[in-house]
Amino acid sequence: MDSGQSYWADRAALEWQVELGVTDAIQDAPVDRYALEAVKPKPKEAAQPVAPPPVPVAEDVDAVAIARAAAAGAADLPALATAMEAFEHCELKKGARSFVFCDGQPTARVMIVGEAPGREEDRAGKPFVGRAGQLLDRMLDAVNLGRGHDDAARAVYITNVLPWRPPSNRTPDKAEIAMMLPFLERHIALADPDVLVLMGNTPCQALLGRTGITRMRGAWVDVLGKPTLPMFHPAYLLRNPIAKREAWADLLELNARLRG
Ligand code: URA
Repeated sequence: MDSGQSYWADRAALEWQVELGVTDAIQDAPVDRYALEAVKPKPKEAAQPVAPPPVPVAEDVDAVAIARAAAAGAADLPALATAMEAFEHCELKKGARSFVFCDGQPTARVMIVGEAPGREEDRAGKPFVGRAGQLLDRMLDAVNLGRGHDDAARAVYITNVLPWRPPSNRTPDKAEIAMMLPFLERHIALADPDVLVLMGNTPCQALLGRTGITRMRGAWVDVLGKPTLPMFHPAYLLRNPIAKREAWADLLELNARLRG
């Protein structure tokens, strides 16, 4: 039989079976489906709950105690800067470009404490160089004080509560302030100025434990045994020029104290 004949013979046989009612093509030999059970793939076992990965345990460290020990071990200002820059427990460090420690004359009679670097300070690595810093320089100059003076009697030394810029210049939170406070206190002890000036609420929170600069400004208080004058922050004065009147009165008060 050639292949053409075989095709027509197979087809005729198939049509005959369809006519008889065959609906499914099956094999020559019967299939014992019960026997097949044994080799049936096992139903999937119920998925076992997967244990969640261990949650990283928050670092159980006392950042304030570590800061205190690091600060206490610093014998001079360069050593303090080194210890502070090496401190790894303040998250702000990760987002900052620069470590901003100080500017001006470390032997100055006046030490000014601000809040934290802003964008310009973060770029420059120096405190108070942006618009607020320029206003501060003009204010100091008006009473013949300045960070550029060599003479300690008219020079100022400037630092901040925090050496790293908070994101979007937000106000430092209490935990950040508390953790950096031992460094600030050591900074004041090592610089040993005759008077301190606190610019705005953040240094008041850090060193006096309270805020409310509008009520506190212009009145001398004691911080670590030093006469201390809270003043409006120059950034506040830029937003509220009317308050420059009080700031001027405070500068005159500072000057009178230095001359007295
Ligand atoms: N404001 C601060 O308090 N400190 C700076 O260094 C700059 C702006």
